[in-house]
Amino acid sequence: MQNVNILAIESSCDDTSAAVLQNNKVLANIIANQQVHESFGGVVPELASRAHQQNIIPVVDQALRKANINKNELHAIAYTGGPGLLGSLLVGSSFAKAFAMSLNIPLILVDHMHAHIMATMIDDPAQKTPPFPFLCLTVSGGHTQISIVRDHFTTEVIGHTLDDAAGEAFDKAAKVMSLPYPGGPVIDKLSQQGNKHAFTFSIPRISGLNFSFSGLKTSFLYFLRDSLKTSPEFIEHNKADLCASYSHAIVNALLEKILAASVQTGIDAIAVAGGVSANSMLRSRLLELEQTHNKQVFIPKFEFCTDNAAMVGIVGYYGYMHKHFSTSKSVPYTRQNSSIFKTL
Ligand code: KG4
Ligand code: ZN
Repeated sequence: MQNVNILAIESSCDDTSAAVLQNNKVLANIIANQQVHESFGGVVPELASRAHQQNIIPVVDQALRKANINKNELHAIAYTGGPGLLGSLLVGSSFAKAFAMSLNIPLILVDHMHAHIMATMIDDPAQKTPPFPFLCLTVSGGHTQISIVRDHFTTEVIGHTLDDAAGEAFDKAAKVMSLPYPGGPVIDKLSQQGNKHAFTFSIPRISGLNFSFSGLKTSFLYFLRDSLKTSPEFIEHNKADLCASYSHAIVNALLEKILAASVQTGIDAIAVAGGVSANSMLRSRLLELEQTHNKQVFIPKFEFCTDNAAMVGIVGYYGYMHKHFSTSKSVPYTRQNSSIFKTL
């Protein structure tokens, strides 16, 4: 069978990324991070759109060069249609539409959350591919959910956060400690030198498979406020222990629910997806489940966890094989797409 070459574009938030896949393998995955947001402590949508506009052509050019694929050898262009920041999505989608039209090849609209979930389906020596059906714990800056993934296109959400996402909980705690944005990777690094039992931060118990993280952030804030009253250097002196204890609370909540989902559904294959799946404590605790609970755990390679176009490309590849093409009239969307994610 002839090889299929897919160009994939991701521009939903603050990373401009382009990937080239040949079938289900990644030939190139280029990611341009936007430094412009750092001093604001969060993503500034207007600045993100402008940075995408600057980055998109050089990033695509670099991906094609690295893959050693000529644009005329491409079979389709996959791009993130949402959810995300509208101005950012418009840059990627407009570029994808124009490029596909000029090459006279099909266009494939990919959902960003679906792409995170499918990241483990990429054929790569650094990761294993789960069998269907599998459970996926998707933990990113905007989403925290548990889904049953039945096939390449069918995903049912069985649990989700009622307020903040896990990534948001990391980012907000980092902000309170005056750590740079995004806080998740910084907290992760500091945690590795800290004692996770030094402090106890409790997470409100929510029935069923849903999550709630806003109470944790508030209890962390109040704890720091009280501690700083008696010891102004409290954060400075306890940074690593604070990060480790806070991460421990988040990871415990995530593990408790994914294990409950496994018991409820009888599905033992568990994958993780989204930016927070880069977290070292979460990765090692998930892997322990293979021994302690007899689960099969599937963790994406580090570069496929945070926002990247390779994950868009793998959905694009399966979309191409099943002729799931979109038209040039498709419009980006900012909220989760209910036609892809059925909530049970
Ligand atoms: O999936 P992602 O790259 O973008 C969204 O679609 O939201 O996720 C970004 C989130 C941010 O909240 C970031 O702080 C978090 O993932 N994150 C981490 C780590 N790396 C990224 N959180 C904890 N530990 C990490 N190592
Ligand atoms: Zn994401």
